[in-house]
Amino acid sequence: LRIAVLFGGRSAEHDVSILSAGNVVKAIDPAAYEVVPIAITRNGRWLLADLQNGELPAAVPERGIEVSLVPGGKGRLVALPPDQPPRELPPVDVLFPVLHGLFGEDGSVQGYAEIADIPFVGCGVLGSACAMDKDIAKGLLRAAGLNVARSVTLRPADSASFADISGALGVPVFIKPARQGSSVGVSKAATAEAFEIALRNAFQHDDKVLVEEFVQGREIECGVLEDGDGALTVSVPGEIVPAESHGFYSYDAKYIDAAGAALCVPAELAETATRQVQDLSRLAFQALGCEGMARVDFFVRPDLSMVVNEINTIPGFTNISMYPKAFAASGIPNSELVDRLIKHGLG
Ligand code: DAL
Ligand code: MG
Repeated sequence: LRIAVLFGGRSAEHDVSILSAGNVVKAIDPAAYEVVPIAITRNGRWLLADLQNGELPAAVPERGIEVSLVPGGKGRLVALPPDQPPRELPPVDVLFPVLHGLFGEDGSVQGYAEIADIPFVGCGVLGSACAMDKDIAKGLLRAAGLNVARSVTLRPADSASFADISGALGVPVFIKPARQGSSVGVSKAATAEAFEIALRNAFQHDDKVLVEEFVQGREIECGVLEDGDGALTVSVPGEIVPAESHGFYSYDAKYIDAAGAALCVPAELAETATRQVQDLSRLAFQALGCEGMARVDFFVRPDLSMVVNEINTIPGFTNISMYPKAFAASGIPNSELVDRLIKHGLG
């Protein structure tokens, strides 16, 4: 079977995607699948890439042969070399989008795959789109009876007074673009001045921004894996322990500063709390209409009440990422995890 692995992409998480996809490719059994790597440039062009010694390139090339899936083509892949007629490549059987953020994790690539009539790994259009938008996701989670942080949603034209908002939500507050990942554009603010800067920063990433209350709690995450028969497996919970110097699990704490955070897997949680966070992960996955995979992120308060922070439908697979680590600690190594994800995608 030929599996097209999509990596790079148009979002701010382009570099994270390359790291994730590198590990996904390493986990794919070469005896069972032929990997067709497709690099997506920062401006969205799809280029045919080559494996080097069985591994993905470390960057998306600037130039190359553009490729395209054909609507209704059941995986027909066409190369579009410059100044030459298009040429047909061997068709691909399944698409694995290892893309984070907009145009990859938000339902758009999933919709493209539906139109091209090719199976793909992970959540469909609806689950992807619902989980990507933190405002919509919170509404659905709340409706399903799950706790989420209190927040206000702002548009650029809204007048937002820090006094009013902090009066309602307390201080500090978190300011987040509604549709971003890896904490890009996220800041914490405790003063009116910092709030203004944080809002300007967040609005550079989205025209919808959430201001959320600060939830005092441990950051606990669970992976969810759906098999082809619909059975859900929830990983053991893991804990993120951000270094004091970073204040929260920011982009830098994740990917720039190797000592920015520590992962503790499994998290040190009592058995009942472990079971509860796993049950809530399953509920959250279903509430957003997720399929295949997702990582559900929580804050667990000192009294063990649990607040869902967000759901990632294409969770990181980087060396520091929780999803593969939590499954490895649950007895599902990366190779098996990736294989089950592909099998789910193939249906
Ligand atoms: N958005 C990043 C990749 C994650 O959730 O792991
Ligand atoms: Mg995320």
